[in-house]
Amino acid sequence: MTVHFIGAGPGAPDLLTLRGRDLIASCPVCLYAGSLVPEGVLAHCPPGARIVNTAPLDLDAIIAECRAAHEAGHDVARLHSGDVSIWSAMGEQIRRLRAEGIPVSVTPGVPSFSAAAAALEAELTLPGLAQSVVLTRTPGRASAMPEGETLRNFAATGATLAIHLSIHNLAEVVADLLPAYGPDCPVAVVYRASWPEQRIVRATLAEIEAALGEGIERTALILVGPALAGEGFDDSRLYAADYDRRFRPRSANGGAT
Ligand SMILES: C[S@@+](CC[C@H](N)C(=O)[O-])C[C@H]1O[C@@H](n2cnc3c(N)ncnc32)[C@H](O)[C@@H]1O
Repeated sequence: MTVHFIGAGPGAPDLLTLRGRDLIASCPVCLYAGSLVPEGVLAHCPPGARIVNTAPLDLDAIIAECRAAHEAGHDVARLHSGDVSIWSAMGEQIRRLRAEGIPVSVTPGVPSFSAAAAALEAELTLPGLAQSVVLTRTPGRASAMPEGETLRNFAATGATLAIHLSIHNLAEVVADLLPAYGPDCPVAVVYRASWPEQRIVRATLAEIEAALGEGIERTALILVGPALAGEGFDDSRLYAADYDRRFRPRSANGGAT
């Protein structure tokens, strides 16, 4: 018996890994974080599965569900939205399960920042503009930010920022980013990427609050940085005709130096 932590993806039921889908289909118990995992993903559960929405449960109750499945010899599909490596609360669950000797496995999922970038048809690392992506958030009621992990500090790098869990804080996000990025820096807000109700709002940093208007309060990503313009960047050297490299040698040593 194993508790399988599975990244359920950003929302669309077909944005799951094949491994994740097959694991869900093989588990007689499914625990899913109902605030973000859409019911469509649950269509992969086998007939008769015990399906529990963990949104109203506390950690003790979630572990109790896993313990009961363990005692019955039933595998558990534990679904969290997007990828499980970011803001999933998987860490605290694995710690408790290991302490009880309950085996776990982890299957990655499509993170929401990838789905948002896909919706924008955007590459977030464009040569000459940005070569790093910072996955971050602003402080919430339940989560303080460690000292140093401030938007102002990240903005000083000029990287592309993918700001999660913060759409309700947009005014503060803008105020923190303006000094480093300037008013004309491009911003995109993607609401419910990959869901049928997906919405995209593009504007500059100075104008994004007015452009957003009412109605987008949660499940949205704020992407900020020069790369969001999608123009003014260099071609990569990778595909340059004169670039010597191992897989497309132009010299005797095949670009090995
Ligand atoms: C608790 S975090 C979960 C992140 C998730 N583990 C991931 O890999 O993206 C929830 C936040 O992720 C972002 N998010 C999750 N799904 C999204 C989607 N489909 N579209 C846009 N943002 C999404 C929002 O910023 C939301 O507030």
